[in-house]
Amino acid sequence: MMDMDRAPAAKGLTPLLKGLLSYHGENNALFHMPGHKQDPDGILSSILGNVLNLDVTEVPGTDNLHYPEDILKASQELLTKAMRSSESRYLVNGSTGGILSMVMGCFRPGDRVLVQRDCHQSVYNAISLSGIEPVFISPGNNEEFGISTAILTESLTKAIADNEGIKGLVLTSPSYFGVSPDLQAISDICKKNGIRLLVDEAHGSHFYFGDDLPNTAMDCGATASVCSFHKTLPSLTQSSVINLGKGASEEDRERIRHYLRVFQTSSPSYVLMASLEAARFIMETRGRELLHGVKAMAEEFSESIKDIPEIRLLKNEDLNGLQKDYTRMVLNTPLNGNVLSDILRREYGIQAEMSMGNNVVFIGSCFDNEGMYKRLSEALHDLDSKGMFNESTQIGNYEGVAKLPHPVMAIPEREALFKGWEIIPFEFAEGRISAERITPYPPGVPVLMTGELICGEVLEYLKNLEGSGANILKSRSDGTRNIAVIKK
Ligand SMILES: Cc1ncc(COP(=O)(O)O)c(C=O)c1O
Repeated sequence: MMDMDRAPAAKGLTPLLKGLLSYHGENNALFHMPGHKQDPDGILSSILGNVLNLDVTEVPGTDNLHYPEDILKASQELLTKAMRSSESRYLVNGSTGGILSMVMGCFRPGDRVLVQRDCHQSVYNAISLSGIEPVFISPGNNEEFGISTAILTESLTKAIADNEGIKGLVLTSPSYFGVSPDLQAISDICKKNGIRLLVDEAHGSHFYFGDDLPNTAMDCGATASVCSFHKTLPSLTQSSVINLGKGASEEDRERIRHYLRVFQTSSPSYVLMASLEAARFIMETRGRELLHGVKAMAEEFSESIKDIPEIRLLKNEDLNGLQKDYTRMVLNTPLNGNVLSDILRREYGIQAEMSMGNNVVFIGSCFDNEGMYKRLSEALHDLDSKGMFNESTQIGNYEGVAKLPHPVMAIPEREALFKGWEIIPFEFAEGRISAERITPYPPGVPVLMTGELICGEVLEYLKNLEGSGANILKSRSDGTRNIAVIKK
């Protein structure tokens, strides 16, 4: 047997491996995805064992994800029961593949569909590919934290009344900040109006396994939903599930299954699927108890920083009746969130999930331990004692794209991608048609689509992001002052 050990990484011959081992070696407090938090107590590995022994292909006895009849069928039936759906299936390229499949499977080209304005880019991809006509609907917002929250029932009722022939609604629950809409009321409105409800539950998989958490899409009667198990539960990155609701028609289900075969690999990883099964098993057997533990740790943390008046944690009371996930901690301070996040990592070995405006977001999960929360609380007290929170570096309003005018597509993206284009300075771009996608990360919501008419507000928004530390992902131009537009 070859004695490879980890020497190639040390010699710089395998830079990826080297980087990953180095991050692991830093022993940071992991307040970010994936939910297994590198399995500190070995619970996940004790179930999965040597993952290489699980890495097989479709041979007799291992079944077939796309046409399950045997062990995958049995495993997905157990998943279906746990998710209280009519049918739940494993996804091996994240929630993205599920979102594409549910939108493509439920709507025809040209269908008018209500879409939450600040939905994740995967929903924008689904709009682009499916040819549906999106009618955007803005979520509510919280001025103090400078964040968007969730779709409000009154906005939904108005949007349905104002737009004829709406066929469905695609919304996010919960948001990256852990805020959920009143999903039961929204589902009731959709049912009353005979429209489908598709829910991006990427951040809400754990809601199915605990108490005192926001409602789940399946319990509220949604047509379909997608959950990134990997984000908040103990499964491997990229592993997600799609849930088809009890009210979903057989026609919708059949088309969704079709698109799952289109958008997913024909060589699905058994390691990912086994990790989904392990996560479901852990959560069904111990989830309630583990989530109680997370709640207690989050509450204790919240109490422990009460003596720092400059710091605020997002709470249910801030949300006008909307519900917040207690495992998601949104910390608002006078400091630029990116600066605070950098200091926490560099000086205290604490890695947050993301930062935006004056907020830093921390993801809690069942695999956390008290030490992590204590470390975070001590770091914040230390920074406070050094006067770090005394001066405000307020960096403007970052309610994201939710407050921008709704996009106007001049040319469908698929067509726009084939047009000639040029790069011009922002000053001359108003009224032109964008020849690129522009997506500030976080939170991964496109501000401009290829083929969209460029308005002044969007340019202003992008200019303001400069210096905020946000990573502005552009597909064709570089820098923050130029933009690719379709040639006249
Ligand atoms: C709200 C939301 N929806 C969908 C996705 C896509 O999920 P995945 O990374 O599992 O494909 C993300 C990813 O960050 C997300 O934040």
